[in-house]
Amino acid sequence: MYDFAPRGDQPKPELYADLTSAAKALVQGEPDGVANMANVAALIWQFLPELNWAGFYRNIADELVLGPFVGKPACIRIPLGRGVCGTAAASGETQVVPDVHAFPGHIACDADSRSELVVPVIRDGKVVAVIDLDSPIANRFDREDAEGIETLAGIIASSI
Ligand code: SME
Repeated sequence: MYDFAPRGDQPKPELYADLTSAAKALVQGEPDGVANMANVAALIWQFLPELNWAGFYRNIADELVLGPFVGKPACIRIPLGRGVCGTAAASGETQVVPDVHAFPGHIACDADSRSELVVPVIRDGKVVAVIDLDSPIANRFDREDAEGIETLAGIIASSI
């Protein structure tokens, strides 16, 4: 059993420090990428409030393919450059989208989603996956969330 217990009232820097150290401990010594992505998606879900989807898309032969996640069933394949995830994967840059309805080409997987954060996971200079977080609250994600998930992505990049 793993018993990571976010306090719920932590300032974001502390929350992300706890999330990333929990993730580091979970993936340490485990070579199976699917198991690691599944546990990290579950950790994100446990630590971060106000999410309706949290998980991975993997870059397979230059197409994003759904990976482990928590939330409703989602689109399985996303071409690079399409939607928020495809844009993050093609550019290698984090996308913070305060209002998904205003993002050209946003792919609606869950009608509840109002804002979104997508962070590329980069290994050996290549985007191997993206971490996608959706929220039913508009403007849910800020620079601190982006930086927290970017740090997490760096920590797990060699374990997925
Ligand atoms: N909204 C995403 C698609 C993935 S789902 O949100 C899980 C996008 O536009 O890339």
